[in-house]
Amino acid sequence: MIYHDTDKDIKAVGKLLRNGEIIAIPTETVYGLAANAYDGNAVRKIFEAKRRPCDNPLIVHIADISAANEFAEPNEMFYKLAEKFMPGPITLIIPKKDNLPDEVCAGLLSVAVRYPDHPTTQKIIKAAGVPLAAPSANLSGSPSPTTAKHVIDDFGDHIPVLDAGKCRCGLESTVVSLLGGTPVLLRPGFITNEMLKKVLPNITIGQGVMEDLGNNEKPLSPGLKHRHYAPKADTTGVRGRTENAVHFINHNSGNNTIVICFDEEKNLYTAKTISYGRADNPEQLASNLFDALRKADAGHPENIFIRTPETDGIGLAVYNRLLRATGFHIIDTDTTHTEESV
Ligand code: TXA
Ligand code: MG
Repeated sequence: MIYHDTDKDIKAVGKLLRNGEIIAIPTETVYGLAANAYDGNAVRKIFEAKRRPCDNPLIVHIADISAANEFAEPNEMFYKLAEKFMPGPITLIIPKKDNLPDEVCAGLLSVAVRYPDHPTTQKIIKAAGVPLAAPSANLSGSPSPTTAKHVIDDFGDHIPVLDAGKCRCGLESTVVSLLGGTPVLLRPGFITNEMLKKVLPNITIGQGVMEDLGNNEKPLSPGLKHRHYAPKADTTGVRGRTENAVHFINHNSGNNTIVICFDEEKNLYTAKTISYGRADNPEQLASNLFDALRKADAGHPENIFIRTPETDGIGLAVYNRLLRATGFHIIDTDTTHTEESV
């Protein structure tokens, strides 16, 4: 069943959600698979549909800042960031209250709170009349969906979707933990580290966010230990100046290689290419990355090379998703001898 942003459909979707159904809904970041956050049975359906490990907690979506008080305990840092960046693509982790079912927070004492700026999402939350727990609406491990088609590709017609077109950002929200004295960035996104630092200068980047966690280390966020966005093919990130990267990739390409590259490089490779935006436009790269990963995988290549952007601003968020998509396998061709085999 496909719904649209009409008064009738929003009302219907709100009622279904309130009564325990799960529905894929658009947000400005990626599509989410939503359920009434106060209904443990409905939330369990999300974990089953996604085949999500039950130790990975969900984000609770609200339609005004004060709604966070109903199920969480906002602190001073929360209000500072909320005032500046909400509604918008940011999620803040704060202590939870007892009225939230354990399923939402995977047994943790904290909850992730987000107030999306997409007008359709806000209308759906208001129509439901309850906060909505929602992870990204993909099968666990596959790239997050940025269109209704991606949701349908993963779930067929088992899950109703409200189709509001392509998501503006294309990468999931920035996640910041506000549980200790020092705020910690757990997932980079469109609200960049530079923007956060202006409000909370002591913010740090969490361990495991930009580097591989050892097997014995306990992650700050359960999501950090799960495999993400990974195409089935052997996937390598390639960093460095165009001439070095092209040399390296062409040297290591076979008959069945796909290169996910920058627009300005697309005629330089011997293998098939999918371009995802200009190197100097991280917003464009962010918005097209997950679609490019899905398209590359659908071609059943033997291996995939992906060009990686600079790591400032939104580029850090793109780079972070590429670390996960490649299993932290990124080669810097400006410093590596390019005849090296992968
Ligand atoms: O943009 C987004 O954030 C999208 C849309 C739908 O809002 N949602 C999304 O949800 O990306 P999900 O479940 O795919 O990612 C949520 C991340 C996971 O890595 C999870 O481990 C982490 O947030 N998380 C949630 N609650 C947490 C908590 N209490 N403590 C630490 N990490 C938490
Ligand atoms: Mg996800």
